[in-house]
Amino acid sequence: MTQDELKQQVAKAAIEHVVPDSIIGVGTGSTANFFIDELAKIKGKIEGTVASSEASAERLRGHGIPVFDLNEVPEISVYIDGADEADGGLHLVKGGGGALTREKIVLAVAKKFVCIADDSKKVAVLGKFPLPVEVIPMSRSYVAREIVKRFGGEPVLRMDFVTDNGNLILDIHNLEITDPVSMENELNSIVGVVTNGLFAARKADVFLCGSQSGVEVIEA
Ligand code: A5P
Repeated sequence: MTQDELKQQVAKAAIEHVVPDSIIGVGTGSTANFFIDELAKIKGKIEGTVASSEASAERLRGHGIPVFDLNEVPEISVYIDGADEADGGLHLVKGGGGALTREKIVLAVAKKFVCIADDSKKVAVLGKFPLPVEVIPMSRSYVAREIVKRFGGEPVLRMDFVTDNGNLILDIHNLEITDPVSMENELNSIVGVVTNGLFAARKADVFLCGSQSGVEVIEA
């Protein structure tokens, strides 16, 4: 199977986690796109969705799936999204597509988080994938200096990229993240940081991991 076929396989498996007659939180990225295409096949069975990016909202609407503003929605049954890295404790690095802040917000409202990814995303220690940090534009140099001072690593400004919220992304290279929960919290305490791509304080509840031998279901 190609990597795309592995992504499609987990996207199909995620349909079993869709709660009928409820609002589904939908992530961003190539794996989430496969999920959206699968969701379209059962769209009559759900009330609608909340999207974590403009791109996902557009794809959902293109399939005729209702997309609600999060402020109109008191509860999301399940949030389904990909990841850039997942460790054995189901702590994640996300935000390769730059949608980390809206992803975290939609997740905060969801009862359950089902992460879908192919097995190339499984790691022993997080940090090989550069950790995205969304920052308010005027704070970018200050935040970069603080990150180096506190954690080491090499923050690199993502070029020609503005988030859906009008902010910038610093991708931190060369980190070894052994305590993702405390790093997530400390990064968030730096003034100018909007959010960071560690999904550790709130991690995945279930990881559907696609491999050549099928979908492995890993529960937290
Ligand atoms: C988007 O901002 C990310 O958090 C994605 O969930 C992550 O980058 C995974 O994307 P792929 O499914 O394209 O690998």
